[in-house]
Amino acid sequence: MVALQSGDQEMYRSGGQSPRRAGEDETPSVQERAFKEAMCKLASGVSVLTTVDEHGCKIGLTMTALISVSLNPPLLLACIDNRSRAIPALVARKCFNIHILGAEQEKIALHFAGSDVDKFRDIDHEINAHGCPKVAGSSAILECVGDGVIPAGDHTIVIGRVFNTVVEEQTRPLIYHQREFHRI
Ligand SMILES: Cc1cc2nc3c(=O)[nH]c(=O)nc-3n(C[C@H](O)[C@H](O)[C@H](O)COP(=O)(O)O)c2cc1C
Repeated sequence: MVALQSGDQEMYRSGGQSPRRAGEDETPSVQERAFKEAMCKLASGVSVLTTVDEHGCKIGLTMTALISVSLNPPLLLACIDNRSRAIPALVARKCFNIHILGAEQEKIALHFAGSDVDKFRDIDHEINAHGCPKVAGSSAILECVGDGVIPAGDHTIVIGRVFNTVVEEQTRPLIYHQREFHRI
């Protein structure tokens, strides 16, 4: 692991030059396949992000790219493919819910990774005060208001401030590793 040096920390505090961004130098990128092969060695928890579009249509997708960012304020980020139907809603509507899936929710993960127009038709859920769906049976739900989006290659980093959590006791996680679901 590479730790920040004290000089780096000072640079961030003083708002100095930011680290070089990908693509700004002449170093060639690794091939997409090699990148995927390496990244699939990372075991990840599985989540479902839900939101609602400007017409009130409910949207949801399965994701692994979720990171806790800050404790105070409580921030998280999700990396969402720019082709996802969720992107316009996330940019415009500024609210979403993250559902951390339990070991028994592989079917939910596959369902929300699909391409149905209405993914909520046969899914037990309720709607929160911001109009975003809350899917029943998740290990944890983090209800978020948007705190900004950052373009990043073919994905968008979506930052959310968590205003409410719902946590189930004693659930085991659903894990995705090497293109397969696992239970621990
Ligand atoms: C295990 C797993 C993890 C995924 N992780 C992400 C992710 O982190 N970000 C993302 O944008 N899509 C991810 N996807 C793909 C989306 O779930 C999939 O493209 C989905 O169809 C998008 O829904 P939409 O087209 O209705 O927006 C993942 C899919 C699976 C099965």
